[in-house]
Amino acid sequence: MIDSYGRQISYLRLSVTELCNLRCRYCMPEDGICKKRHNEMLTQEETISAIRAAASLGISKLRITGGEPLVKPNIVDLCAEAAAVDGIREVCMTTNATLLPKLAGPLREAGVSRLNISLDTLDPEKFRYITRIGTLSDAVAGLDAALDCGFERIKVNAVLIGGFNDDEIPVLAELTRRYPLDVRFIELMPMVDSGDFGPEAYLPCTAVTERLPGLEAMDPDGGVARLYRLPGAMGNIGLISPVSAHFCTACNRIRITADGKVKPCLHSSDEISIKGLDEEGMRETLRQAILAKPRWHGELSYCERSRAGRNMNQIGG
Ligand code: GTP
Ligand code: 5AD
Ligand code: SF4
Repeated sequence: MIDSYGRQISYLRLSVTELCNLRCRYCMPEDGICKKRHNEMLTQEETISAIRAAASLGISKLRITGGEPLVKPNIVDLCAEAAAVDGIREVCMTTNATLLPKLAGPLREAGVSRLNISLDTLDPEKFRYITRIGTLSDAVAGLDAALDCGFERIKVNAVLIGGFNDDEIPVLAELTRRYPLDVRFIELMPMVDSGDFGPEAYLPCTAVTERLPGLEAMDPDGGVARLYRLPGAMGNIGLISPVSAHFCTACNRIRITADGKVKPCLHSSDEISIKGLDEEGMRETLRQAILAKPRWHGELSYCERSRAGRNMNQIGG
């Protein structure tokens, strides 16, 4: 379906849980979240109806997000059902990888074709600091499992944080020479509870091009990242710059949260509920939400924080 600004909306980001087994400082508060009641969240049946409704409006790419999607019971079944929906051509997932050692194989068999893996540092102490409770070797074991299970074009997402991991730009980038994967640096987005970070944390992606002078520009792959490659590398370096250079004019996505709210835009507080609706009602609500997509999300900076009204774990990025 085409939105009011002529953009073709073909990509649904579906969050299946707000819960996570990590507590990344830019994503959620330290004490986790107030667990919502079961009956406030979309059931599996409602979730599949929502995917069907979206597919009937022209959505062909589905990305399962969280929180951490792999902490959800029955996630493999849900992915298999989603992959079987008519019109859904690609089921992808964004995950912190820690549960992939057990789940990578079953997910691949269920029809998930691509994984994006959040990994901000290769230093065990820094990993514990940024995730508050995580262990680097769990995430690395998950990344290995993903590489072993034949997923297409695995992408590592590193949120670029000045004074935290900017010194690791070269070592993270080197992963693209050692493994067939992309590494993407993402500018830190100022969410409600990312107050641990001062203005110096908000580095523009040009910090990456400055640290990697040998980068060669590559053709875009239809995603939000500008793509480059290190000479001789197997994968791309991607730069995602929602703060310094928004990509809203090419936005092709709509979001549904785990509690059944359609979000026309990541950084807007506008939400329309589909909880309790039948498939036809969901279709109509999604149609309205697509038509309500704003032209762009407005200024984002350390001072002008996201107007999303939720933290990332409650949206799915
Ligand atoms: P591909 O299918 O591989 O292109 O994945 P993706 O980049 O769409 O998904 P992923 O979950 O890996 O997101 C990467 C980063 O981009 C995360 O930090 C997201 O929050 C951010 N992002 C994704 N979509 C949007 C968007 O519409 N607006 C903004 N500002 N950021 C986004
Ligand atoms: N800024 C930028 N990226 C973020 N993510 C989560 N919170 C933020 C933030 N405040 C990223 C995660 C994950 C993706 C879905 O969003 O690292 O890779
Ligand atoms: Fe969990 Fe991902 Fe948020 Fe980290 S960024 S707390 S791994 S949902």
